[in-house]
Amino acid sequence: MSKEIHLIDKDFVPYISEEKILSRVKVLSSQIRADYGTNNVLFLSVLNGSFMFTSDLMKSMNGEVELSFIKLSSYEGTSTSGKVHELIGLNQNIQGRHIVILEDIVDTGLTVQRVITMLQMQNPLSIEVCTLLYKPEAFKGDTAPKYFGFKIPNKFVVGYGLDYDQLGRNFNEIYQLKD
Ligand code: XMP
Ligand code: MG
Repeated sequence: MSKEIHLIDKDFVPYISEEKILSRVKVLSSQIRADYGTNNVLFLSVLNGSFMFTSDLMKSMNGEVELSFIKLSSYEGTSTSGKVHELIGLNQNIQGRHIVILEDIVDTGLTVQRVITMLQMQNPLSIEVCTLLYKPEAFKGDTAPKYFGFKIPNKFVVGYGLDYDQLGRNFNEIYQLKD
């Protein structure tokens, strides 16, 4: 049995066990393979949070897959452009490819929507989102992620790649902020 953890100024309680995560990851990899048949899938994993999910999902995928890591950086632009978002790490041609974006969590959905918009400019054949966690109550997008591990309430979680102020990514299960 895992115990509560303390990070900086907050306590977190065990929420989703490693066993549950790994069994959902297996279901997701089978679903994806069934949907894409023998097609080669290009996974684009959004760093940093999705590194652990990506690793387990890849180990569970059969058939032809490719994997690249991307990151969304944001910096203050000029006063007229406001915040500028830039996709870094994508150094291959994605035109005509089937893309599956790998995310740790979809909250409001704004982050993943920005990634989708930037990828669409390069004319891939298809783009879907596969996220380990999905907060439907917080989601503001039009289309829910096609693949998700767990729907969770609008409460902060850490572990299994997800961080609280950069801490907690190393835990092999998911913890929820204690009330
Ligand atoms: P949006 O709202 O754009 O959020 O879908 C995406 C990013 O916000 C972070 N996020 C969290 N990180 N626990 C975390 O550790 C959470 O409960 C949480 N909710 C949102 C995360 O970086 C995600 O990519
Ligand atoms: Mg974060």
